[in-house]
Amino acid sequence: MTGFSVDWLNLREAADQQARNSELLRVAATFAASGGDSQAVVVDLGAGTGSTYRTFGQCGFPAEFKSTWRLIDKDKELLAEAACRADQIRRIETYELDLNHVAQLPLAAVRLITASALFDLVSAPFIDRLIAEVDAASSGRPVGMYAALNYDGSTCWEPVHPLDQLVLEAFNEDQTTDKGFGRALGPDACDYVKQALERAGFGVQLATSPWQLEGKDSQLVAELIQGIASAVQSHPEIAPEHITDWLAFRLAHVTTGSCMVGHTDLLAIRES
Ligand SMILES: C[S@@+](CC[C@H](N)C(=O)[O-])C[C@H]1O[C@@H](n2cnc3c(N)ncnc32)[C@H](O)[C@@H]1O
Repeated sequence: MTGFSVDWLNLREAADQQARNSELLRVAATFAASGGDSQAVVVDLGAGTGSTYRTFGQCGFPAEFKSTWRLIDKDKELLAEAACRADQIRRIETYELDLNHVAQLPLAAVRLITASALFDLVSAPFIDRLIAEVDAASSGRPVGMYAALNYDGSTCWEPVHPLDQLVLEAFNEDQTTDKGFGRALGPDACDYVKQALERAGFGVQLATSPWQLEGKDSQLVAELIQGIASAVQSHPEIAPEHITDWLAFRLAHVTTGSCMVGHTDLLAIRES
């Protein structure tokens, strides 16, 4: 276990799928399918239970398009779950691997690298090392990178609570603490990755992909609220009793209120 349970990833999958920018997804899928290979290779970093694999199956690829997906994660339970949910058309290979070992990533013949809800957890040096590996592995071949659902630091609640802004600032601070890769990029992830990829010769597009959550998502919202409260609980600028109040207020409104959590999707393509 790494802290991302099958239950949590299942809970967020529908909201993620709805949030992903459909145009970037379509362009990414078209790029992957247009290489002329009989089996395009897609490498999914931090794949979890395979949410990105399933999204491409449902919304991206032409139904008959064959591809091999190399799903990489350090959590073997999540990978096993992903393998169980493979379809008949796209082959899955799983790799239990710590992404920090970038030189071990199976990037041979890769056409598209994907990641979702991952790049806000990683550090700037990790991104630099990853791009250098992709560069070396693609050596003159067209290659793309699709990174969806990068948290952008914004969250808006309805109804509002006086502590929302303070809690958000504390939460965003927590988002930049080490999540296993060194100091995390957190809300700066997309800007950093975009600039690094542009320096490496990629054309990069960004698009917003916010979670728009309401009463029907109450279970996900309740988990989100608990996660935020726990992330800020030892922040020096918020008294514990204020966090308790905020938490109680937020939980009391999960079925009647709404919430927007900002994300950005990124697609980068280098034609040669
Ligand atoms: C927020 S989850 C996203 C999972 C999946 N991409 C999705 O959208 O549902 C982050 C994933 O990254 C994986 N992960 C985190 N740190 C990792 C590391 N150092 N090496 C490999 N996988 C890692 C976790 O196990 C988890 O599956």
